[in-house]
Amino acid sequence: MITLNKYNDLINEYASDILNNENVLSQKKYMQHGNTSTYEHTYKVTLEALKLSDKLKLKVDKKTLIRGCLLHDYYLYDWHENDKSHRLHGFHHAKKALDNAKRDFNLNKIEENMIYTHMFPLNLRIPKYKESIILCVADKISAVKETFNRK
Ligand SMILES: [Fe+2]
Ligand SMILES: [Fe+2]
Repeated sequence: MITLNKYNDLINEYASDILNNENVLSQKKYMQHGNTSTYEHTYKVTLEALKLSDKLKLKVDKKTLIRGCLLHDYYLYDWHENDKSHRLHGFHHAKKALDNAKRDFNLNKIEENMIYTHMFPLNLRIPKYKESIILCVADKISAVKETFNRK
């Protein structure tokens, strides 16, 4: 069984450029669910996705899984703010996150699909790869945990 430290090491090995990026760090000020910032949320989703893929013994590209998960909510605004452009956040943020991620990082096809389809089934864009399905599930598990763990 891989320990939490191992997962943290793996994330650092494959994605330190993402974790230290200025725009990514700015997500610490945006709240996602409950008291969890978007930065924390995407990290937790990444851990959840790594755990899931190990538990289910799925052969996945770990580097891709990590990078896609870390960038899946890279829309870079606070969706609680009452701003016209944030309306229907659930329907539009995956595309926004993908556009921002493509601007700031080199993404492979799987990472692009992960980000673009992570809101399935609310958005009817079907996840095409194993990594996309794992993200989709890990995101929902994390959202429930974050919502009910609020202090
Ligand atoms: Fe999202
Ligand atoms: Fe998310």
